[in-house]
Amino acid sequence: MDPRDPAVPALLRHGRIEITGRLVDASNATLFGTVTADGAQVQCVYKPVRGERPLWDFPDGTLAGREVAAYLVSEAAGFHVVPPTVLRDGPFGPGMVQVWVDTDDERELVDVCAPADVPPGWLGVLRARGSRGEPAVLVHADVPPLQAMAAFDIVTNNADRKGGHVLAGLDGNVYGVDHGLCLHTEDKLRTVLWGWVGRPLPEDVVEALKRLRSELDDGLPDALNEHITLREMRMLTARVDALLANPCYPEPSGYGPAIPWPAF
Ligand SMILES: Nc1ncnc2c1ncn2[C@@H]1O[C@H](COP(=O)(O)OP(=O)(O)OP(=O)(O)O)[C@@H](O)[C@H]1O
Ligand SMILES: [Mg+2]
Repeated sequence: MDPRDPAVPALLRHGRIEITGRLVDASNATLFGTVTADGAQVQCVYKPVRGERPLWDFPDGTLAGREVAAYLVSEAAGFHVVPPTVLRDGPFGPGMVQVWVDTDDERELVDVCAPADVPPGWLGVLRARGSRGEPAVLVHADVPPLQAMAAFDIVTNNADRKGGHVLAGLDGNVYGVDHGLCLHTEDKLRTVLWGWVGRPLPEDVVEALKRLRSELDDGLPDALNEHITLREMRMLTARVDALLANPCYPEPSGYGPAIPWPAF
């Protein structure tokens, strides 16, 4: 089933979850499985709240809700950058369930490579040295879905946009995953997508932000209320307002690291 199939959210919410594996290199309990109902089935990621590793800067037990809040923001804006994600009970208690995105491994969007190997048209983010001292660059593609993702990360204050959290879907769309470290009230934007600093936001991104802003005056707070605090919602609105007032990709704020580590 296509991740954007309209039947997916209800299936995620009400289907029977069966766990078939665990993503071993993940730092939290990130499980892989299927959700089935009425003969329909999708593969999913299930992150039980109970499996969340405590962090110094985010309140305990809130990561799953932040992932759902990030999905709701993405949908309200029309970015459709987050695979459908719900909060529900599962085999290890309440947690987030997100549809699994099959990826096209031929289609790269973010990379670390030698300066001579940068694909044409890609944007450089960082120059570094490899383990043997050889020069390396962190680069990403210059395509509209990534521009939308970068704007989404700014307004959700995403502290963890690693290269591995940017997926090229087999369905041709681009998806972001792992939004547990979003929507904090303090500035924590950490991303590999810095390629457009100082450039104006594309027009459709501005339109999406306006849609999001009007949803924040309408029904979105009711939906977000279950997942984030009122202050976090107010700060989200303030970030949208600030970006609409100055519709350019901002520079790193200078507080804390601008790039997540590891970058992949
Ligand atoms: N919905 C999804 N569809 C496809 N792949 C996914 C999905 N969610 C996660 N993944 C893959 O699994 C990896 C680990 O998942 P995720 O980053 O969400 O877990 P995590 O526990 O937060 O891990 P870490 O803290 O190590 O980043 C991702 O980097 C991505 O490659
Ligand atoms: Mg991750």
